[in-house]
Amino acid sequence: MGADSLNFDMHSSDATAAFAARLGPLLRPGDTVLLTGDVGAGKTHLARHLIQSILVVPEDVPSPTFTIVQTYDTRQGPLWHADLYRLTDDTEVEELGLAEAFETAICLVEWPDRLGPLRPQDALSIHLDAGQHDQARVLRLTSTAVWRDRLGAILA
Ligand SMILES: Nc1ncnc2c1ncn2[C@@H]1O[C@H](COP(=O)(O)OP(=O)(O)O)[C@@H](O)[C@H]1O
Ligand SMILES: [Mg+2]
Repeated sequence: MGADSLNFDMHSSDATAAFAARLGPLLRPGDTVLLTGDVGAGKTHLARHLIQSILVVPEDVPSPTFTIVQTYDTRQGPLWHADLYRLTDDTEVEELGLAEAFETAICLVEWPDRLGPLRPQDALSIHLDAGQHDQARVLRLTSTAVWRDRLGAILA
């Protein structure tokens, strides 16, 4: 199945936050968003604003760097926010219960290269790159056909 790629220029952290808040309401359990890019690219920033756009009860969204996984109740169902940076092999991924969460929750995953074979086929990938200035980022969305209609709502 072919994958589509689209680039979005974000000129500030607020622009990325606004983008995230448009994406959040489009997600539902069974959806996985893979966030890639260097340390400091804005993966957690994007995830935080996405989560806050759909939380049932407002709360802080810390980086899961140390806890590995944080879970939330959202208006669209359960959400897992994972940062796999510190994992070294995919048995650890299985122990976290991520394989089940990919079926039953919305999953946002930083450092998804650690997933190995558990990486969901139909995930939406968002890669964050440095832009033309300190506060600029380029988001590259790569997705399969299942996302096409829903992402249309963001592009409109
Ligand atoms: N356009 C932008 N998009 C996202 N984050 C940005 C942008 N400009 C500046 N930032 C800042 O970059 C930092 C990214 O940190 P973080 O999200 O923790 O990165 P990562 O999780 O990728 O390591 C945040 O402090 C954020 O406010
Ligand atoms: Mg992070």
